[in-house]
Amino acid sequence: MAVLSAKLASAALAFILVAASLGLIEAREAGIGIGIEIGARGKPRQREFDYFNLALQWPGTYCQRTRHCCSSNACCRGSNSPSVFTIHGLWPDYNDGTWPACCTRKHFDEKEISTLLDPLEKYWPSLSCGNPSSCHGGKGSFWEKHGTCSAPVTGDEYNYFLTTLNVYFKYNVTKVLNEAGYVPSNTEKYPLGGIVSAIQNAFHATPKLACRNGAVEELHICFYKDFKPRDCVVGSSSSSDVLSSSNSCPNYISLPAYASLGAGNAESKISWVPDDVL
Ligand SMILES: *[C@@H]1O[C@H](CO)[C@@H](O)[C@H](O)[C@H]1NC(C)=O
Repeated sequence: MAVLSAKLASAALAFILVAASLGLIEAREAGIGIGIEIGARGKPRQREFDYFNLALQWPGTYCQRTRHCCSSNACCRGSNSPSVFTIHGLWPDYNDGTWPACCTRKHFDEKEISTLLDPLEKYWPSLSCGNPSSCHGGKGSFWEKHGTCSAPVTGDEYNYFLTTLNVYFKYNVTKVLNEAGYVPSNTEKYPLGGIVSAIQNAFHATPKLACRNGAVEELHICFYKDFKPRDCVVGSSSSSDVLSSSNSCPNYISLPAYASLGAGNAESKISWVPDDVL
């Protein structure tokens, strides 16, 4: 615990540094204009993204899909399985609902983020046993696919992960929902509009939700490039209408509590989220 809080304190300190470097990047951008780097494998150059989407997943729903366990799946950690919204990813997106991918040929290097592995394992765990996504074959990573595309704002690999953690700490969706009375339950159903309003009231921006069998599976909150909250883009329009932002969720939704898989003490490990859940 002490180790983790020391890590978090150093992460907080580092955030100040990142914020400073963001300022620098913006100044440089204004001055000389940084375009997006060369596309991977001769793909046409992709223009710079429009906004960030912090995609969170609800383990209580997600883990119901677990059919077998492996060391990388946090759903298999028994009583240590996550009971808060965890990070699915920080995606650089376009306003038309599409997104760039694999923007540079840089490879993921776990050593660069060795000081962040503890909080990443806790807050950005894989909830499946699938293979990580990959851009250039070989050992892939979420960062290669999505992180490289946010490089004009978030910089290198380390800063991408640190920035994502900091945004996640600052905008605590689990806390906002708990304080509004939306607590995990296997019997309650909550009004979708109430959940959306709670987030709107806290962050002054409209989130996007995705459900599976009437249960919240994903909750996305969106940001301008300076990390001020903004409405999430819905489908191919930029409408912030609450109903259209929640197409896949019914009017009353559940936030299921984690049900132990009984798989117990599988050793945990970082493994970036695979493609099949994008
Ligand atoms: C978010 O809030 C929940 C509920 O209050 C708390 O348990 C959790 O530790 C918080 N998460 C972070 C990353 O601060």
